[in-house]
Amino acid sequence: MLLQLWGLLYSSYVRFWLKWVVRLLTGKCELQRVLHGQKEGARRTLGIEHSLGSSKNKVLRNALHVDEAEVEKCVKDVMKEKKIEQKDIRFKTNLHISLLQITGYKKLYLNVENLRKVPYDSDNEEHEEQLIELWNLLMPHENLKARITKQWCDIGFQSDDPKTDFRGMGLLGLVNLVYFSKHYTNEARQILSRSNHPKLGYSYAIVGINLTEMAYSLLKSGDLKPHLYNVVSGLPQMEHFHQFYCYLVYEFDKFWFEEEPESIMHFNQYREKFHEKIKGLLLDYDAVLTLGDKKKP
Ligand SMILES: *[C@@H]1O[C@H](CO)[C@@H](O)[C@H](O)[C@H]1NC(C)=O
Repeated sequence: MLLQLWGLLYSSYVRFWLKWVVRLLTGKCELQRVLHGQKEGARRTLGIEHSLGSSKNKVLRNALHVDEAEVEKCVKDVMKEKKIEQKDIRFKTNLHISLLQITGYKKLYLNVENLRKVPYDSDNEEHEEQLIELWNLLMPHENLKARITKQWCDIGFQSDDPKTDFRGMGLLGLVNLVYFSKHYTNEARQILSRSNHPKLGYSYAIVGINLTEMAYSLLKSGDLKPHLYNVVSGLPQMEHFHQFYCYLVYEFDKFWFEEEPESIMHFNQYREKFHEKIKGLLLDYDAVLTLGDKKKP
């Protein structure tokens, strides 16, 4: 106990003096070293996030909690606090970008969460239109014979009315499915057709909704930071979340056919294995998980 306390005191004490000594030697504070030493992207922004979060200075710590409109002023305040000249444009610009990425990530999570909380409502025309759009994108040569019909099972829903399949993912599940079919139409139709494989088949829409949950939980836990900080130099948008979802669907299908599970009964196990694989890729500070450039909309 005493030893732990000592360790704790010691490490924060050492960290404090170490920073002081390095500053004396290099004439630069930790923020400057991170901003100048790392190329733009996850390394830099995660470094900034860590440095600000562990600072004893309130102005610096608060920089992690400002919203978009306050970022510019916050950058000035931090520079004043650390006695960095305001004419150091490189420092200013780079800190600005990192703070936008940090605040943008949180905002994106809130937006995604809000969409997830909207339940699918068959009395809502907009919801219904998106559902029909999904059908038309995936099955261009076949008309729906009715709103409630067994045909929905052809694209991997569980019953004659998809509304019950969205459950925990709400509208987010549908919007993701539509986004993938709209922006990667060929890939979506190809994967749908592969999902009908007699031995390795799976329910396209149900698995698609399940992968929305995976994308959502990776965003929520913060695991998605390296990817988003590398891909977006500024505020990440909803579109970037949908893009990541598209990557998951595409890669999951590949993974499933490579692994050749005995049957869909093993879905849990392979989903978990795939999840671990993605989490592993996201541990890399250079992670960029996107579908090939040529397929980008
Ligand atoms: C996705 O699949 C996992 C494993 O079967 C399950 O625990 C989870 O509840 C599913 N999520 C959704 C939204 O269907």
